Amino acid sequence: MKNKSLVSITDYSKEEYLRILSLADEFENYPNQSILKGKVVATLFFEPSTRTRLSFESAVLKMGGRVIGFSDSNSSSITKGETLYDTIKIVSNYCDLIVIRHPLEGAARFASELANVPVINAGDGANQHPSQTLLDLYSIFKTQGTLDNLTILMVGDLKYGRTVHSLLMAMSQFQTTFHFISPDELKMPEEYKYYLNCLGLKYSEQKDFAGNLAIADIIYMTRVQKERFSDPIEYERTKNAYILKNKMLDGTKDTMRVLHPLPRVNEIDQDVDVNPKAYYFTQALNGIYVRQAIIASMLGLK
Ligand code: CP
Repeated sequence: MKNKSLVSITDYSKEEYLRILSLADEFENYPNQSILKGKVVATLFFEPSTRTRLSFESAVLKMGGRVIGFSDSNSSSITKGETLYDTIKIVSNYCDLIVIRHPLEGAARFASELANVPVINAGDGANQHPSQTLLDLYSIFKTQGTLDNLTILMVGDLKYGRTVHSLLMAMSQFQTTFHFISPDELKMPEEYKYYLNCLGLKYSEQKDFAGNLAIADIIYMTRVQKERFSDPIEYERTKNAYILKNKMLDGTKDTMRVLHPLPRVNEIDQDVDVNPKAYYFTQALNGIYVRQAIIASMLGLK
């Protein structure tokens, strides 16, 4: 994995996912390993972020490295007309690793082809968010004790939600049964269903939410991605399609856990937070260990 970019979750094999999970477990037990001394990581965020940017930066700092970059592209020379091509050419000479989030699908792949250092895709439009997926896999493994033969409900915005696209591709390596629960306007795109069909994996598409909760090992809630809608009326129509409330978790499996990549808006009521089945805040914490593992592995330090 040394010097290998992580742009799509399919850039890593199943064995590489498992290696990252094992390293993440090591970092969870021993988080402050000063293995990044003298290394510089650039975080280039052309879209807002709380968890991804800060957990990547925290991961670097915990390992003794340094961070450069921007959280708002308006503070860079992009405002003067600099192209992404030039930005990447320059920044890749200033650092050992680039973490990039960009609204355009394919921007991270473009960056990885230009840069002379490895690139991590921290989210490119509605396409992929592979480091989120690795922390989701870690969270699923920690809560279920396995990644094999699980039933996952993916709920909400399955059209624009990049985290569900990456997670579907990764979990398809583990004989998962998927249930896609969304309004018609936000269904899982055809290419992902085609991907599952080619692998002979089972999935269903439904609008009923409450009636399907009891079968789930994981309920993966998602936010309706307001920023990706061209029609604000369609956003208003779909934004509250599914709202999980604490009472609805009665009758779900004892081992079931609720995950959400966050941020949440309305889709999980705050009364769920006290339920032991709510795992989304720990899931976000797991992001630090998993991102330590990804960085250390990419730089050939583990
Ligand atoms: N899960 C996630 O990508 O969150 P942020 O947008 O806050 O980084």
